[in-house]
Amino acid sequence: MTMTTYKNILTAKEPVPGLNGVNIGVVTLNRPTVLNALNHELMEELVAALSEHDKDDTVRVIVLTGSERAFAAGADIKEMSDETTVSIMLKDRFATWDRIRAIKKPIIAAISGYALGGGCELTMMCDMIIASESAQFGQPEINIGVIPGAGGTQRLTRAVGKYKAMELILTGRPFSAHEALEMGLINKVVPTELFLDEAKKLAFELSQKSPIALQLAKEAVLKSYDGTLSEGLQFERKNFYMLFSSEDQKEGMKAFIEKRKATFNGK
Ligand code: HXC
Repeated sequence: MTMTTYKNILTAKEPVPGLNGVNIGVVTLNRPTVLNALNHELMEELVAALSEHDKDDTVRVIVLTGSERAFAAGADIKEMSDETTVSIMLKDRFATWDRIRAIKKPIIAAISGYALGGGCELTMMCDMIIASESAQFGQPEINIGVIPGAGGTQRLTRAVGKYKAMELILTGRPFSAHEALEMGLINKVVPTELFLDEAKKLAFELSQKSPIALQLAKEAVLKSYDGTLSEGLQFERKNFYMLFSSEDQKEGMKAFIEKRKATFNGK
């Protein structure tokens, strides 16, 4: 089966050593000029590529990665800076993210460089996280007058607890791979040159297991999150959309584009 070609991502299959006809799927974010900022087109392509691997019987596990410099520096600020509450709700662009939640096979994130905002949230949607020692995580949305909108307030809180999550989301400060490991947010930190190999090694190991058991195990672990998670996600999205009525959102995003410091007036 030939793989579809995309504009903003690369996708490939790699054979699992010692297992005939069994592969891992590798999806690489590839919008380097903007540090893999997640625009709508990229997200649509990402969902298509992940779904393709999910449906492919020869693929057992998926690795999601970016470049050494950036996994993703967040949702594309330029694409959303002029949205209003109504326009952003009508487009409901973040609904694409729900389709990533529906991927049945385990997804291992291989992270290096920036994993900020939506990039950090996309990382947290994966099932295990291997990071290079140069990875930098963060939920900096507060600095541009908004809040995380793709699960950050829910998933970060569940992973690291209320107080750390509050600190990270309310200050927006970036944090290192070592701090992420210490907080229990990620699985392993490795030297930068090894981050992708290490993630693939883990994917190869999981590929030895029963694919049905893998899928059901993933489903069951995710179930422990559920109940209030869906409500939380809806709640978060509404609040995110609501912020597009504020002058602070306009100012925060405009200041980023104009490369100056934002001045917020609380309106
Ligand atoms: C659009 C972005 C971008 C983003 C970087 N770029 N991040 N474009 N959206 N999120 C662009 C820059 O404008 C610039 O383009 C190019 O990428 C290189 O970035 P620089 O800023 O010049 O690089 P550097 O000085 O190394 O700084 C790297 C950085 C900084 C610290 C990561 O770019 C940054 O702070 N980015 C924004 C991070 C952020 O706030 N993310 C959260 C977004 S909101 P030009 O054309 O100037 O060369 C969000 C909400 C999620 O994610 C909601 C759910 C999806």
